[in-house]
Amino acid sequence: MPKKLLFVCLGNICRSPAAEGVFLHLLREAGIESEFEVDSAGTGGWHAGESADRRMRAAAQKRGVHLPSVARQVRPADFERFDLILAMDSDNQSSLLASAPPAARHKVRLFRDWDDQGRGEDVPDPYYGGPEGFDLVLDIVTRSGRALLAELRAAR
Ligand code: 4NP
Repeated sequence: MPKKLLFVCLGNICRSPAAEGVFLHLLREAGIESEFEVDSAGTGGWHAGESADRRMRAAAQKRGVHLPSVARQVRPADFERFDLILAMDSDNQSSLLASAPPAARHKVRLFRDWDDQGRGEDVPDPYYGGPEGFDLVLDIVTRSGRALLAELRAAR
């Protein structure tokens, strides 16, 4: 079973920290957190060292979800280390595929391929929008995360 998951967006301060925090929350609920390794990163490095965006953390907190991420950029070793590299949108996926070694290309997937309410679509970037964008991101990453986890557990 793929157990090492990396969630990736552009800045690693909004969408991928939310996906990471929600997925960790789901693992904790299921009592299987120790079986997985979960991290997030950005295709860009401008926000390296920062906590998740305050608005994203506040929206998550309202749902009882903690976002532990400290932003970092994707690095070459990630393509070796992780079993699944989950892009939040198609730009992120293209960037990842442009730097992935051939043997790791199959690991790079669009996270919303697991979302039955928008398969193959982008997780919309909430950075420049209003508060509702952060709740929408949480709804999407929760649906996608639940479906991904169910698939991983069924395959083991
Ligand atoms: P994220 O959102 O990719 O979901 O973390 C963004 C955060 C910051 C920027 C872009 C997207 N930025 O350009 O600074």
